[in-house]
Amino acid sequence: MSVASNALRAAAGPLYQQLAGHYRQAISAGTLTPGDRMPSVRALMGLHDVSLSTALQACRELEAAGLLEARPRSGYFVCAPRRPALAPIEEPAHGLPDPAQYVGIHQRISAILARSRHHRVNLGGACGAPELYPADDLRNAAIRALRRQPDLFGSSVDADGHPAFRAALARHALRHRITVAPEDIVVTHGATEALTLALRAVAVPGDVIAVESPTYYGLLQILESLGMRALEIPCSPQTGISLEALELAAQTYDNIKAVCVVPNLQNPLGCVMPDAHKQRLVAWCAARGIAMIEDDCCSATFDDDTPLTAAKSWDTTGTVIHCASLHKILAPGMRLGWITAGKWQARVEMLKFGLSRPNEMLTQIAVAEYMGTGAFERHLRRLRTQLRVQREWVAQKVAATFPAGTRLTLPRGGLHLWVEMPAGVASETLFEHVLRDGIRVMPGAMFSNSNRFNHYLRLNCGNLRTPELEAALDTVSAAARRLAG
Ligand SMILES: Cc1ncc(COP(=O)(O)O)c(C=O)c1O
Repeated sequence: MSVASNALRAAAGPLYQQLAGHYRQAISAGTLTPGDRMPSVRALMGLHDVSLSTALQACRELEAAGLLEARPRSGYFVCAPRRPALAPIEEPAHGLPDPAQYVGIHQRISAILARSRHHRVNLGGACGAPELYPADDLRNAAIRALRRQPDLFGSSVDADGHPAFRAALARHALRHRITVAPEDIVVTHGATEALTLALRAVAVPGDVIAVESPTYYGLLQILESLGMRALEIPCSPQTGISLEALELAAQTYDNIKAVCVVPNLQNPLGCVMPDAHKQRLVAWCAARGIAMIEDDCCSATFDDDTPLTAAKSWDTTGTVIHCASLHKILAPGMRLGWITAGKWQARVEMLKFGLSRPNEMLTQIAVAEYMGTGAFERHLRRLRTQLRVQREWVAQKVAATFPAGTRLTLPRGGLHLWVEMPAGVASETLFEHVLRDGIRVMPGAMFSNSNRFNHYLRLNCGNLRTPELEAALDTVSAAARRLAG
């Protein structure tokens, strides 16, 4: 008799329930993850020394609990957890946006970030755990590069980026239906520098930039540092920026210089604009001579075999400036981003040279080598699966433990969830409460200059599931329940 079967027989209850409990635990601990095949009924009989009817009954019990699904002629597979029983976040009203503002929240954002710099558990960032990324492969590629070119650090750098890396990025862009020549890509310090260059290329201090509301707080910081005004346009949790509200805004403001959007897996909402909206927005901007800045950092985390299409793919006039980075999909520690700037290409190249000169070469050479192998595709597939499992698990926790009235729209990609709590729960107070336990969350107030999102919270899903993480989520939900009264 196997060790497992001895342990099973030592437990109480009918044998089939003990066997089911054994696999329930394996699923709950993440040893078996959604999509994994269960051992066949015959294998279960051998592994646990049980009869055919015990093995079958155990599988049926797990199927009835929604943990397994039977696939014809293939056996039993672990199911994705049930969707959380939370109502989706409501659509905003599509009226006239608030007046354009010099952002003015930089200090608040910086204060929140500074106060929570020393945290034990980061439930706020939209970032992944180191274990999600192929650090060994990248380190080995970097060592090989230095062996091949021992004088690399003594040599001058290529303007606008290493040719092999720009070629790898151009090939990667094809997957999101962007056709771009490697020479039209400028390598940057993350998407942050790409966005800064894009804004500086098309606008000057005092100009109005239309942004999604809520929006990525880093964009508000960049706008404020450039002295530009943010015009917040309501954003649907399902379909992204409201094109109707944008049209209304354009009738009121004649100095909108750019629309800055995240069409794929928006931060913080997680929504994806339908392709027809992307196409309409590109045409709308082109017709008015307004630049469209597309921030595209998360597309490769989309949980589907068909990759998301970038809005840039519909650009026939050079209106769209496409900005992206490897931060969330491959190597957070490298700070590598890039920009393709359409009709502002020459200006962006000039601005990049003036702002920071070209990036260093070693990381680019290492990543170019890695991206040229099948390992990159395999990594992205694994990352997508891991993020889906983690997102669904955090969503389940929120559904089960947050106060009644909490809402959530489960995104199909990305590294975070956007949670709407009951109106009375001030997320900045929640932030203060859980920080005492070393836990950082991102209050909704960081994502807008208005106070519309003060009862929202952005929660990270890039952390690995550990008892410490589970306890931290429990601490946050307990604080939210207390504040909800
Ligand atoms: C939507 C969005 N844009 C830009 C950035 C900044 O990217 P990077 O870290 O590559 O500068 C982030 C990072 O969280 C983001 O979520």
